[in-house]
Amino acid sequence: MSNKPLNLTPDERAELVLQAMTNEEKFAWLSGPMAIPLGDEPLPEGAIGSAAYYPAIPRLGIPAMQQSDASLGVSALGNIRPGDNATALASGLLLAATFNPQMAEETGKLVGREAFAKGFNVQLAGGANLIREPRGGRNFEYLSEDPLLTGIMAGHSVRGIQSEHVVSTVKHFAVNAQETGRVVVSSDLSEAAMRESDLLAFEIALEIGQAGAVMPGYNLVNGTWASENDFLLNKVLKGDWGYQGWVMSDWGATHSAAKAALAGLDVQSGANLDKQAWFDKPLREAVASGEVPQARIDDMVRRILRSLFAVGAIDYPARPGGDIDYMAHRLQAQREAEQGIVLLKNARALPLPKGAKRLLVVGAHADAGVLAGGGSSSVTPVGSLRLPGVDFMGIATDKIYHPSSPLHAIRAESGSAEVDYASGEDVRKVTELAQKADAVIFIAEEWRSEALDAEGLALNDEQNQLISKLAAVNKNTVVVLETGGPVTMPWLDEVAAVLAAWYPGSGGAEAIAGVLFGRVNPSGRLPVSFPASEQQLPNPEQLDPATTTSMPGVPVKGDIVHINYDIEGSDVGYRWYSRTQQTPLFRFGFGLSYTTFDWRDLKVTPNAAAIEASLTVTNSGERAGADVVQLYIQPKNKAYVPRLVAFARTELAPGESRVVTLTLEPKVIACWDTTQSAWQIAQGDYDIVAGRHAEDVSLQANLTLAAQQFSY
Ligand code: BGC
Repeated sequence: MSNKPLNLTPDERAELVLQAMTNEEKFAWLSGPMAIPLGDEPLPEGAIGSAAYYPAIPRLGIPAMQQSDASLGVSALGNIRPGDNATALASGLLLAATFNPQMAEETGKLVGREAFAKGFNVQLAGGANLIREPRGGRNFEYLSEDPLLTGIMAGHSVRGIQSEHVVSTVKHFAVNAQETGRVVVSSDLSEAAMRESDLLAFEIALEIGQAGAVMPGYNLVNGTWASENDFLLNKVLKGDWGYQGWVMSDWGATHSAAKAALAGLDVQSGANLDKQAWFDKPLREAVASGEVPQARIDDMVRRILRSLFAVGAIDYPARPGGDIDYMAHRLQAQREAEQGIVLLKNARALPLPKGAKRLLVVGAHADAGVLAGGGSSSVTPVGSLRLPGVDFMGIATDKIYHPSSPLHAIRAESGSAEVDYASGEDVRKVTELAQKADAVIFIAEEWRSEALDAEGLALNDEQNQLISKLAAVNKNTVVVLETGGPVTMPWLDEVAAVLAAWYPGSGGAEAIAGVLFGRVNPSGRLPVSFPASEQQLPNPEQLDPATTTSMPGVPVKGDIVHINYDIEGSDVGYRWYSRTQQTPLFRFGFGLSYTTFDWRDLKVTPNAAAIEASLTVTNSGERAGADVVQLYIQPKNKAYVPRLVAFARTELAPGESRVVTLTLEPKVIACWDTTQSAWQIAQGDYDIVAGRHAEDVSLQANLTLAAQQFSY
């Protein structure tokens, strides 16, 4: 039952509650430890056991804040709630590969529903960092290398979560691109480049999703911790973008009281991992001495209340024990995976013939489940396989395989074929079996985790060698990649087909099998470029993890490390390859289908309100399928590189045609002018290119623009 008073805005309601709160009640919300049992300290009464808990104020009808991770489902870090079931969504990269904002919203709703039913009202979701470093350990939690795609997908995911009365964060603000040394690394990047890339992704995500909270990263930005970075928090986020929600630090990422508070940080999270509970006694003292005005404390609390009211978390308080339809949610996760698996190569090997008599599935634990990424976002549905992983903030976290068995799914999908399985450890045995099989399906894996970057871009040697050996004895060898991001493929020319299945989540194996046998027509498109080698990257060398510190709460080793992202600036990913005229292994936006699509009649119409483009897409093949139209913009005759300026996914029956209309995002057309503090669109002629990937020119139209400036 709702007891919402009529006609009061979230701001007005927040103000009324704020006026009634005592100073003790306010400070109780500004700093808190992880809400897991720590040493001899029991959980606070009422805490469910999760990332954070802040007490209720029963006399004012305000529920406790119970905060849980993350974007890919409701995690139970280190198994703190043993036996707690949850649906594991596919990795963020897979979600972005769908190029389907509606899918982001629906899967966001799923996470919101499960969080709500478990009693959580704040979900630490909305990973929106750009993939600047393809070896980054948390790339599977993020979405893409492109600001528009990232912003749109993150925004819709957040909107979905919040529609279930659960506040979502966006994180980790900003330029938090790698895990090695994450607590001591300074991401150095000029303002203009940042505004056009990493900040733009967050800006679009916030516009669409209206996230109730923002979490700065562990890193420093241009030499200042993100959590006390006045430029990021006060100037850009709260100033230019008019952000109304609250800013909570990452866990153990607060470094001061007055400085952080005055720079725009509202809450110190995971305070037990910091040197001090900065936002408790030290902040009270700073207020007493006049260094921090009381009005700033009120602003912090008002922001929290406003966000809780805005999503309905106070009118509809979450309570543990709600019903969750896990079967329906698993199916939803499967549908997501079916749209986001990318077919990278197909030398007429797929779909596998229904009449195949004998198939061989190879891969570590491919009989048990599909691989998942590790760390705070790791979701563990009941039945997951747990292997030793990493020690994470003092908690042992496992390497998880979600209970969706590729072997079983392939058996179920293959009809009457005999399906053998081998883990791959016994090379002689597996090559013998491969010789007898009509096709070999190799499930390759690459595990990444929070706090743990990939070292290089290669699968391990055993897998690379085994793939070549299998391809040598069976020409129908299909590689399915379960990876945390791009990997190199030294065997690419030898194998018949390659699927990027990312970490595909609770319904992942069924989705893979569906694509392999053609029940599903693949429609994912790469949200990241796959480099041909590390040498193509702006920063080919990686920091040695042994020389630095990647965990909060432990003594810091070595100095602050600076990473120069001005090398590529805002030309992240495909724009970098374009600028440096390098050919990556696979381009951003690329993905094959079992059908063909014709495109014609690209028209670009600048209206007063917006620039629109349209084209006709026809499914010219024999299977139903989905196509993704990508529009890139590039000033004519200039050394600028293409930028994704709009995209649309469309489903078409065989022979069906549709006019697809797209609206171009003005901020992608513009460049940031630091001296004017404004976006500038340069006068002149532009190419609008409809492409099947970042360098493809399938159709082209001209757009002439007048000079234009806009600011906040
Ligand atoms: C992660 C955050 C997460 C938090 C709480 C941190 O280690 O960086 O993304 O929300 O832990 O679990």
